[in-house]
Amino acid sequence: MAKAQRSEHGEWSSGLMFVLAATGSAVGLGNLWRFPYQVAQNGGAAFVFIYLLCIMLVGLPIIVAEITLGRRGKQSPINSLRSIAMAEGVSRYWTLLGWLGVASGVLILSFYSVVGGWTLYYTAQAFTGAFQGMGVEAASEMFGGLTASPWAVVLWHTLFMLLLFGIVVVGVRDGIQRTVTLLMPMLLVILVLLVGYGMAASGSFNEAALFLFQPDYTAVTPDTFLTALGQAFFTLSLGLGAIMVYGAYLPQNESIPNSAAWIVGMDTATALLAGLAIFPIVFAAGMDAGSGGPGLVFKTLPIVFGEIPFGVILAILFYILLAAAAITSGVSLLEPATAYLTEKGGSRLVGAGSVALVIWLLGIPAALSQNIWSDLKLPGGQGIFGTMEFVSTTIMLPLGGLLIALFSGWFMRSASLAKELGVNPGNTLYLLWLFAVRFIAPLGVILIFLNSLGVFGG
Ligand code: PFF
Repeated sequence: MAKAQRSEHGEWSSGLMFVLAATGSAVGLGNLWRFPYQVAQNGGAAFVFIYLLCIMLVGLPIIVAEITLGRRGKQSPINSLRSIAMAEGVSRYWTLLGWLGVASGVLILSFYSVVGGWTLYYTAQAFTGAFQGMGVEAASEMFGGLTASPWAVVLWHTLFMLLLFGIVVVGVRDGIQRTVTLLMPMLLVILVLLVGYGMAASGSFNEAALFLFQPDYTAVTPDTFLTALGQAFFTLSLGLGAIMVYGAYLPQNESIPNSAAWIVGMDTATALLAGLAIFPIVFAAGMDAGSGGPGLVFKTLPIVFGEIPFGVILAILFYILLAAAAITSGVSLLEPATAYLTEKGGSRLVGAGSVALVIWLLGIPAALSQNIWSDLKLPGGQGIFGTMEFVSTTIMLPLGGLLIALFSGWFMRSASLAKELGVNPGNTLYLLWLFAVRFIAPLGVILIFLNSLGVFGG
């Protein structure tokens, strides 16, 4: 197969730009909204350690595999997998893995965009100073008022999707790259400022650090492992082809392992820093981090911002941070299916437009499941929003990741992998990685799945 030199969708202008875009994809609501409340609900540090283990043993090898597949295929995940499978002489059914990924991306963005909409609403509220002096009741009323209004949630969800569409439609370089170049440095500065405040002014920094790093393993159940694994995939944007399609735009001479190490390092650091920014101020205000669940950053934090010195400014900074992180992740969820439709011969406008429309429509039931359809329970006992979140992040992403690891580890020639990675097939680090994608990552996912099914008597 003659291999194209670059993707038809364009390329990042450098390896650094790829790292910025992929970190933008990875760092999102998963780090700033989901991670803190999951830590709080799953017993603190014990969860953090299991999560870190999943990142290192499963996430890191798979992210390298995803980038490698993407750059080798240089197209959307569906077409990349098809052309690689053909070139490697293996079954074309592997294309289905690309479809699984596109389906997961669409499903995830449907509910992600609803929460993305909340971040826009809270950013607007922060600018009006609405949190000042807000007590527990007013804060729950604000969140309840937003989510209980079908019109409001759908409106903010629509705005969020329009924003993503507006960025993706412009293209890889002029749309996505430009957005991450603007937002990512800002994000870093804000996060550091917030952690600095937690350290210097809250008086509860040590308590927060102990909560995050001193484990109590008695709270661990088989579900803790499954949740931590799902979170590891979710936070690294793995298992659905988002990182694969970003890898397709990585210039040929840039190093994949180095980029992967940076992305994983920055994503993990951001999650831990988010914990170190949020828990000190929550504890200092005498609040319980776990009780609000997913409401932690929307119900609990506004109360805190309403009480502390500089609360108005801190709130503005925090919700801009949250919204910016959600936007740079959201675009990466829209890109794989957009790239696929463009490859079918459509324009980017039609591609991005149709995908965004489908996702917008699917997001409506997710938005309504918190108000007019809140009594509706799907099999498994959760509502529409909860089911979408559980099925996509906890089942589809690890399954996609497992298949990506098996495909690259067992079905591709080692020579092809080494060539794409730019290493010699005898290189020790390369062999370690190969061992990890062949054995450690797949076994890790399978064991955690079996464990949560109660096979080991949990
Ligand atoms: N990694 C993003 C976050 O942590 O918020 C969510 C995400 C983006 C998941 C892109 C999957 C994906 F493909």
